[in-house]
Amino acid sequence: MASTEHSATGQTRPVKFILDGELIELHGVDPTRTVLQFLREDLRRTGTKEGCAEGDCGACTVALVELGQDGNSLKVLVVNSCIQFLPALDGKELITVESLVNEAGELHPVQQAIVDSHGSQCGFCTPGFVMSLFALYKNNPKPTRRHIDEALSGNLCRCTGYQPIVEAAQTMYQLPKAADDWLRLAAGGLDDTTRIERLKNIQPDSMLQTGRDGRAFFTPLTLAELIDLKRRYPDATLLAGGTDVGLWVTKQQRQLDHLIYTGRVPELLRAGVTNDCIEIGAALPISEAAPLITRYYPDLDELFTRFASPPVRNVATLGGNIANGSPIGDSMPALMVLETRIVLQGLGGQREMALEDFYLDYMATALEPDEVLVSIRIPLPDRASATRCYKVTKRFDQDISALCMAMRVQLDGDVVTAVRIAAGGLAAIPKRAPACEAAMKGQPWNTDTVRAGMQALAEDFAPIDDMRASAAYRFRCAQNLLRRFYLETTEGKNYSVYAYGR
Ligand SMILES: Cc1cc2nc3c(=O)[nH]c(=O)nc-3n(C[C@H](O)[C@H](O)[C@H](O)COP(=O)(O)OP(=O)(O)OC[C@H]3O[C@@H](n4cnc5c(N)ncnc54)[C@H](O)[C@@H]3O)c2cc1C
Ligand code: FES
Ligand code: FES
Repeated sequence: MASTEHSATGQTRPVKFILDGELIELHGVDPTRTVLQFLREDLRRTGTKEGCAEGDCGACTVALVELGQDGNSLKVLVVNSCIQFLPALDGKELITVESLVNEAGELHPVQQAIVDSHGSQCGFCTPGFVMSLFALYKNNPKPTRRHIDEALSGNLCRCTGYQPIVEAAQTMYQLPKAADDWLRLAAGGLDDTTRIERLKNIQPDSMLQTGRDGRAFFTPLTLAELIDLKRRYPDATLLAGGTDVGLWVTKQQRQLDHLIYTGRVPELLRAGVTNDCIEIGAALPISEAAPLITRYYPDLDELFTRFASPPVRNVATLGGNIANGSPIGDSMPALMVLETRIVLQGLGGQREMALEDFYLDYMATALEPDEVLVSIRIPLPDRASATRCYKVTKRFDQDISALCMAMRVQLDGDVVTAVRIAAGGLAAIPKRAPACEAAMKGQPWNTDTVRAGMQALAEDFAPIDDMRASAAYRFRCAQNLLRRFYLETTEGKNYSVYAYGR
């Protein structure tokens, strides 16, 4: 395996990104310095605020502009700068709230609309809302109320009651010069073509290694480089979107010495459909993976809409969700009922396994120290079936599950020929419910069978009490969700039947 040896303190080249039309080059970057710390403490750009430092409040929201996978288009996306590590900006453009005012000091239409609608009171949340609305403005010229609510679901305001901010979102398109809003940016008035060229000029052509004080951040460009780095730095933390790892630093104050960023490895960024499965690279952001999955499994749309918020989903990956192995991770129950398999690669080569076999114990997985998760294979629907995933939380938006339960049933006439039930939040790992499945398989799909399935859940799960829910609530809820699934799949109006062989 080819590799370039670098010392842990050595550097290959500076971290390069664009801010306000300027190329920024940073040498010897602390691997876990956040973008927010860089903005506020190094540049004194204090428009971007720190509220929670854990991706929840949105006060730190900034926008990134990246080249699309075709290399000739632009993606504008918001992220939480409080949990993004600075070296991950390599090859991107950063836009902050200060960037939006033009050289004449005129406000961007998004900002003007907030002013006109009285959408700011104490103002602490406002820069974050402005950036979320800016991304909406760039990406969606005609948003519905639902689009607006979704775009703002990662921003909290404790003053305005939200209505004036929603009004700003509805009126911002009517303000002058809306059509050429890029030109209003302080970022040198770059049009899309110029921006694409500038980004092309800073795309990495070799692995980035930056760091200081014996700590290092690596950005491999191939799977071979990634595996080789894992061999050389067995203690290294793999970093994908950083929406779990970021909090280890900002909340748990952990020191991470070596980080290997997966976001530039093409094999891990795949998004495609083969003859029999949807193949999703482990480092593909959920915002890109979800549309591909819901094209075939539309009933999972609500799950992905309610997975965190746009700034989190724009970087968070399915690979990170699976590998982190939290018992309350949301994607795993749904992926398990879809019979998902995962592909792992280590020094000895590749292996594939069923997702449910990956979880061994609380936060313990079958991943060997030299292995990485490469991709996720979700079989295409090949038989008529009904699938549901229910996420139970205290709030609708941006909340962690008390439990998350997925179910899938296939019928021949009214007889259950195949059934899969899986849940998170009911055990130390995300897991299937074999006793419940056995109680229903081969039986007529009716209330007696469902009642037997509900009783059998006691053999599958022994939930715990914690701050999100009591054990009794979780268990009762799981039983009732099974009953709800039955009602939804027999009342007709919500029953989705997938075409054979699609
Ligand atoms: C505000 C907020 C809201 C959230 N809401 C939800 C939610 O609604 N539902 C939910 O399930 N989660 C939620 N999360 C948790 C988190 O967003 C998810 O777990 C996410 O999928 C993690 O992906 P990531 O790419 O950010 O992973 P990272 O943080 O980069 O990594 C997570 C773990 O996976 C490992 N890893 C990453 N890539 C690989 C790989 N290719 N091979 C092997 N190991 C790898 C890392 O080393 C680390 O151990 C939330 C987080 C935040 C901050
Ligand atoms: S500071 Fe709250 S989301 Fe970043
Ligand atoms: S205006 Fe005060 S928190 Fe939003």
